[in-house]
Amino acid sequence: MIYFDHNATTALDDRVLEEMLPFLGQLYGNPSGLYRLARISRSAIETARERIALLINANPEHIIFTSGGTEANNLALKSGLLKRHLITSKIEHPSILESCPNHVSNTTRVGVDYNGLISEQEIVDSSDFDFASFMLVNNETGVIQEVKKIAQIVKERGVLVHTDAVQALGKIKIDMQDLGVDLMSISSHKIYGPKGCGALISNQSGLMNALMTGGGQEKDLRAGTENVAAIVGFGKAAELARLELEERQAHSLKLRNYLEQQLQGIHAIKIFSGQAQRISNTVQIGIQGCVGEMLLMQLDQQNIAVSSGSACASNEEASSYVLAAMAIEPQLAQSAIRVSLGKNNTLEEIDIFVQKLKQIIATNR
Ligand SMILES: Cc1ncc(COP(=O)(O)O)c(C=O)c1O
Repeated sequence: MIYFDHNATTALDDRVLEEMLPFLGQLYGNPSGLYRLARISRSAIETARERIALLINANPEHIIFTSGGTEANNLALKSGLLKRHLITSKIEHPSILESCPNHVSNTTRVGVDYNGLISEQEIVDSSDFDFASFMLVNNETGVIQEVKKIAQIVKERGVLVHTDAVQALGKIKIDMQDLGVDLMSISSHKIYGPKGCGALISNQSGLMNALMTGGGQEKDLRAGTENVAAIVGFGKAAELARLELEERQAHSLKLRNYLEQQLQGIHAIKIFSGQAQRISNTVQIGIQGCVGEMLLMQLDQQNIAVSSGSACASNEEASSYVLAAMAIEPQLAQSAIRVSLGKNNTLEEIDIFVQKLKQIIATNR
C-alpha cells in the first residue's frame, strides 16, 4: 500500500515499539508506587518528559501528559484560564473550534488570506480578548503560521497565548521560548509514536487548572494512572524526531518538489497555499472537474491512501472549512485532496501515484 496520509497519523517506528514493549509486559508497575517496579515506570516517564522537552526547548517540569492533542487543546481552553473572550482563527482544528467553554461569552475568529495565512491585522484590530489560541501549522494546507509575531501582538496586551503545535512537531524546528507562547499542545501519533498520547506544555507553573481530578497525577493537573508505555513511546519518538529532523525535512521536500513538478503536467490543477511557507511534507491539491471524496475512494481502490481534508472530516460531504476561509471557490474546494508524505515514502511511490491519479482524472472529467 502507498500511504500518503501522514498528517492524519503515522505508523509506529520500530525503534519506538522496542522501547515500549517492556512497559506492556514485565514492567507494569504503577508509577505512583514507592517500590522498585513502580520507580522504574516513574523514571521512564521522566526520561520521556526530558526527551520531549529537548525537542521543543521547554522545561520538562512544565510538560503535562494527556491522551493526545485533542485533550491538550481542551485542557488549554477549558482549564479556567479563559474568562470572557477567546481570539482564535477560522482554520483551527475542531478540538479548538469546538472547545470554547460555555461560560465564554464571545469568540473572535480571525480570517486568513488566499494562501491560508492567519491575518495579523485582524488580530491587531480586535479588542477585549483575554485568551489567544493560534495553530502553528495548519493540518490541511501545511501552512506555517506567524505564531511568534502573533504572540508578540497579543502579549503586548498582557494576554496568555496558546498554540496548537500538533502538525508542526517533528516537521519544523520548534523553540517554545523563542516562539514566546505560554501554552503549547502536541501529539505523539503524528511523529511515529503511539496513538492516544500527547501533552500540554506551559512556560511557567501555575498556568493551568485540572479538567480531570482524582489521584493527583501530573502535578495535580491531569489525574489518572499514566499510560506508561505510550508516554515512553512518545518520548522515544520525540528523541528520534529531534535527531532526524533535518534528514526527514530534506527527504520530504525532495519528494514533494518532485510530486509538484509531476502534477504540473495535469490540466487545471491547483496547489493550495503554494505561495505560503509550508511544512515540507504537505501538498493540498484542487483538481477542476473532480470531487475530492470520489478521488479518495478511487485512489483507495488502487491501494493509495490520501485524505480529502482533515481526518475527521473525510467521511463527510461538506468541503473543507479551511479552504472556505481562504475564499477558494466552492467547486474547486470540493475537489481537494491532501497528500502528506512521511519518512518512508519513495520517489517510486510518487510516480505510481501520479500515474494512477492521471488515469482516475481522465475517467472523471
Ligand atoms: C492541528 C491538529 N490539532 C489537534 C489534533 C488532534 O490531535 P489528536 O489526534 O492527538 O487528538 C490534530 C489531529 O489531526 C491536528 O491536526
